[in-house]
Amino acid sequence: MSTPIDFDRYDRIRPIRWTGDTLELLDQRKLPFVVEYVRCTDSDAVADAIHTLTVRGAPAIGIAAAWGVVLAARRIEAGDGREAAQQLEPAMQRLNAARPTAVNLAWALARMHAALHAAGGDWRAVLEREAQAIADEDLAANRRMGALGAALIEPGSGVLTHCNTGSLATAGFGTALGVIRAGVAEGRIGRVYAGETRPWLQGARLTVWELQQDGIAPTLIADAAAAHLMKTGAVQWVVVGADRICANGDTANKIGTYQLAIAARHHGARFMVVAPSSTVDMATPSGDAIHIEERDPAELFGVGGVRTAAEEIAAWNPVFDVTPHELIDAIVTERGVIERPDAGKMRAAFG
Ligand code: MRU
Repeated sequence: MSTPIDFDRYDRIRPIRWTGDTLELLDQRKLPFVVEYVRCTDSDAVADAIHTLTVRGAPAIGIAAAWGVVLAARRIEAGDGREAAQQLEPAMQRLNAARPTAVNLAWALARMHAALHAAGGDWRAVLEREAQAIADEDLAANRRMGALGAALIEPGSGVLTHCNTGSLATAGFGTALGVIRAGVAEGRIGRVYAGETRPWLQGARLTVWELQQDGIAPTLIADAAAAHLMKTGAVQWVVVGADRICANGDTANKIGTYQLAIAARHHGARFMVVAPSSTVDMATPSGDAIHIEERDPAELFGVGGVRTAAEEIAAWNPVFDVTPHELIDAIVTERGVIERPDAGKMRAAFG
């Protein structure tokens, strides 16, 4: 069971590349058929890439925003970090406004801001080091969570995941998908199911492709097939990521996650949330206080650019939902595992 994971096999995709003066983002709108990086040379291009889901996934948008600040810094002159922070404020606000739900975005920008405030004349170098540290720490956290989460899974288990929480959504390896990679590598997971994740199809377009790169063969299911699949006994764990984990353990994640948690409880499957501590938001008391992003209803009108719904109809497109902590069996962060999370356990772990 303690076979070390071969990261050369299980961690090869990089969605965010810093070249030294440009940010390259793997264009997730075009996957899996076109593998193409877009180049960002200023922070507004990064904000736009976050808003349009060119780069997506909670940790990845935080990392991209941190590099966006480095790009914005290229356009200003300042004697020290405090002066630079003042000038960079508008760019940082635009980055922060690119998407509302994942706290990793605001967290990464707050870290860049704090680093700037402590910096002197070398503030440019400080900013670049901080962005790199945010990315490096995310990768290390994912690898640690992979081991911690996989250890909860009994050999021979089947798992169901939702959305995309892999290398594409992080600095590398992934959160929930990191646990699945580690679980497969250790021989604990025998079956991987991925929900297609309507309407943007992160599961069908991204997760299945990512796992294929590793030589893992997932089974794609329609989102609507999840409860029926659980009823067959094929799934022992639902393993998902998070965009924000509140002070009481309530968790926001991709729309459809909540109904998976309800179905899992009904069918005796367990429910694991895997996210780095940068996703924990102790300032938000419960899920009711989370701003749930709503995107263009047009995302629901068709598939792959082909219209499937009648013209002139109404549609509602919230892209996240909240799973109450009572339905969560384990929250895995790089700091450890919280079983049956509640406000007391969250406070003990995160202060
Ligand atoms: O809209 P997206 O694709 O950015 O949503 C992503 C998710 O909901 C992920 O599950 C979450 O960000 C965790 S990614 C490690």
